[in-house]
Amino acid sequence: MDKKFKRTLITTALPYANGAVHIGHLAGVYVPADIYARYLRSRGEDVVMIGGSDEHGVPITIKAKAEGVTPQDVVDRYHKIIKDSFEELGISFDIYSRTTSDIHSATASEFFRRLYDKGEFVEKTSMQLYDEKAGQFLADRYVTGECPHCHNERAYGDQCEACGTSLNATDLINPKSAITGNTPVLRETRHWYLPLDKWEPALRKWILDGHKEWKTNVYGQCKSWLDLGLQPRAVSRDLDWGVPVPVEGAEGKVLYVWFDAPIGYISNTKELLPDSWERYWKDPESRIINFIGKDNIVFHCIVFPSMLMAYGDGYQLPDNVPANEFLNLEGDKISTSRNWAVWLHEYLRDFEGKQDVLRYVLTAAAPETKDNDFTWRDFQARNNNELVAVLGNFVNRAVVLTHKYFGGKVPAAGELLDIDKEALAELSTIKRSLEDALDTFHFREALKEAMNIARLGNRYLQETEPWKVAKTDMDRVATILNTAMQLTANIAIAMEPFMPFSAAKLRKMLNAGDLAWSDLGGGSIIAAGTELSQPELLFEKIEDEAIQAQIDRLARIKEENKVKSFKAAPQAEDVDFDTFMKADLRVGTVLECRKVPKADKLLQFLIDDGLEKRTIVSGIAKYYAPEDLVGKQVCFIANLPPRKLKGIVSQGMILSAENADGSLVVIGPSAPVAPGAQVR
Ligand code: MF3
Ligand code: ZN
Repeated sequence: MDKKFKRTLITTALPYANGAVHIGHLAGVYVPADIYARYLRSRGEDVVMIGGSDEHGVPITIKAKAEGVTPQDVVDRYHKIIKDSFEELGISFDIYSRTTSDIHSATASEFFRRLYDKGEFVEKTSMQLYDEKAGQFLADRYVTGECPHCHNERAYGDQCEACGTSLNATDLINPKSAITGNTPVLRETRHWYLPLDKWEPALRKWILDGHKEWKTNVYGQCKSWLDLGLQPRAVSRDLDWGVPVPVEGAEGKVLYVWFDAPIGYISNTKELLPDSWERYWKDPESRIINFIGKDNIVFHCIVFPSMLMAYGDGYQLPDNVPANEFLNLEGDKISTSRNWAVWLHEYLRDFEGKQDVLRYVLTAAAPETKDNDFTWRDFQARNNNELVAVLGNFVNRAVVLTHKYFGGKVPAAGELLDIDKEALAELSTIKRSLEDALDTFHFREALKEAMNIARLGNRYLQETEPWKVAKTDMDRVATILNTAMQLTANIAIAMEPFMPFSAAKLRKMLNAGDLAWSDLGGGSIIAAGTELSQPELLFEKIEDEAIQAQIDRLARIKEENKVKSFKAAPQAEDVDFDTFMKADLRVGTVLECRKVPKADKLLQFLIDDGLEKRTIVSGIAKYYAPEDLVGKQVCFIANLPPRKLKGIVSQGMILSAENADGSLVVIGPSAPVAPGAQVR
């Protein structure tokens, strides 16, 4: 670590208390932050890690309305779930607080007031969307409508999730109130704006010139924001949930959630360290690191720094903002509203005692430079093939063999051969790479290095074969197992930031006293004569059933979402009865069904239509296995002109219904009927 800093303040994005925490949050923010904090602590650094729930903002009030409870009820419920599950996963916050605390309102309020008094805001009157039926302004997510850029019809008043553009509610085409569904009207209102344009030169200098070492995804996003030119941003809202705007005549207005939330980092530090908090924020020998996801970059690199500069009084800007990209789940974007997520509190229930497995997998598959995918099969494979077969296996062999040949007492090493010296020498190489990776926030890489000690150990035992040597030369076995135990003790140190529970278990097994980070790389850090406890498995195999249960759960959710997200098309124009009756709709029985070669969408059917056998080609191959349809009855249009598809003449069309996601379900009679029965 850079020696010019005396202490480090680690902040983690404050999760919205309108839902539980999921693997996307963990992989992007909390697991990497925790690894870093644990690493610095084990090096004896002065470090404080700050977290808390973000309890304001429109989504929370929408949820409260939908459930008929107060916003405070909503945040109380989720704050507890979030806080408890973080704790159980071993995320080692020094404080996990919340933005509905008194100290936070006071701090945020004072922050706003000072900017107001210094003349740092621009006050502007503008036309905003107003729901006349609900009698309120429609801030942010209270409005949905069509995105003016990509024409997604379900964009929100603050952002289009389809194309990622941030929006103003008044940009939406055909806006609708999320409260009543009404079309809002425009009404005049007054708000305070932070002129980001004023801070643009300072931001350019600070980031573009001063922080070229930042991750390229972060630096690049900052550069493109700055190059587009910054505009003043409204920092207040017409809303009754939030920190009231501390200015006379501002009744009914609160601070914008993205104004108050980052101030939460300050209030939480104050709550933790009432007397010394300023040291972490204002001393140039301190540094601040913000762990966040990529959707938070602009707020942490542009907006909050502008607020801090406007405030002055010695506040420092972050030294680094190691933002991650997104983690997807089984190929689809994680979504709280669609329940497409692995929720931490449910994981902890379903995989009791397997905190470290999740921490391991989320680190190994972290979306550090690009979006990444979490799959349950990968989760299982990493547990079984890496944690069990590599790490657990080595540690277990080393401990078991020591018990077997030396009664569990670490034997003294005799003369070291080259193979022993080489193994021990590799430890210092690993230590260097591990520290390099950790210091530069490359946690996947770092984890690989830590695992390399176990790989080295397995190779070492494979090559030295102490179980064979034991037949002839116990002195040599002593040296081998001493070396193996040195590797094991190194593992206990190196794995602690990543997998603290297993590291603690291993330390207990080793009884090696205090092993500090500074011992890492050492070839004699566990003393001869140390009595090991009984061997205990660090990891166990995860069976297919447990994984299948999770995959089934996701499949169920996907089915539910198809129905939930469906929006019926407007009714079509009238058709006269005689025209409709001209369509000859019938039921047929599927005699044969097979895939059409070189056409991934098409199935070829042979149908008993009551008169003869007819061939129909249908574009449903993605949704059915051909054999599942044989014997089923389907509805089809009999009197369409024959059409050639991929060289096959199709005599009609099979009817199917379309789900919200475009998938198709074939339509048939609800009880068997004679083939050829007419549908009317
Ligand atoms: N609640 C925000 C989110 O989940 C993050 C807030 S971070 C803070 O995207 F800086 F505002 F605290
Ligand atoms: Zn869009």
